[in-house]
Amino acid sequence: MSPVFLSRLVFDLIAAGLLLFGFSYWWLGNVAHEVAGSAMFVLVIVHNVFNRRWYGRIAKGSREPRSLFNIAVTFLLMTAMLALLISGVLISNALSGVMSPYAGFTVRQIHTLAAYWVLVIVSMHLGLRWPMIMGVARKLTGITQPNAVRTLVLRAIVVAIAIHGVWSSFALAIGTKLSMQMTLDWWNFEESVAGFFVHCLAIAGLYICLTYYAMKWLLARKRRPGSAAAVAENVHQ
Ligand code: HEM
Repeated sequence: MSPVFLSRLVFDLIAAGLLLFGFSYWWLGNVAHEVAGSAMFVLVIVHNVFNRRWYGRIAKGSREPRSLFNIAVTFLLMTAMLALLISGVLISNALSGVMSPYAGFTVRQIHTLAAYWVLVIVSMHLGLRWPMIMGVARKLTGITQPNAVRTLVLRAIVVAIAIHGVWSSFALAIGTKLSMQMTLDWWNFEESVAGFFVHCLAIAGLYICLTYYAMKWLLARKRRPGSAAAVAENVHQ
């Protein structure tokens, strides 16, 4: 594994961390939020510079369901990120001298809406890359052989994270945030800071796991004997 690829993954990890941090606006306040948000956007731009060749391959790439889903998720992510960036610039306190006429309630609502959608879509984006991320984790930890007990323990952890994610979705009322409904139930950071981040991580974990297993199911369906794709493969052999 090249050191450049490893540093790219570290940048991705930092970007994901900054995204989570951005949700805690009412914990450390506006300055920390704007600094973290700006740093995240710089990392997202760097991320896209590294991945620029992917865009060039879209036209020639495969048209299998996973590839089409990957393309759709990436473009949805781009739309949500742009909405987050533009609304963020419009309501920025640091830029308020320039932008204040636009800093209305609706722009704030759009910013919050985009942020929660980014959380869900980035998680799906990671779920699509989970086999690669697991491959890197195996290399870094020197795991070379399958182990039934380890697989069982990891699957039990995944189930626990998914159940926690469902609970966290209710605890943070994620449905109301994704549908831009008005709520006044902001998290009370005086009660718990860690609790908030655990909920955000569990929600991200839920969407990573749903995407990962949906892709696995698609692949298994394709390989099932008698499926149209499997028959076509046999004909060509
Ligand atoms: C916090 C935000 C994000 C995280 C954590 C993240 C994470 C990742 C990871 C782990 C990879 C694979 C390794 C790599 O190439 O670095 C990846 C690939 C990629 N990401 Fe992101 N990403 C984020 C945001 C974005 C955004 C906003 C876009 C585009 C609008 C994007 C577009 C891509 C593309 C095009 C690839 C290559 C896809 C492929 O090879 O199949 N990412 N991302």
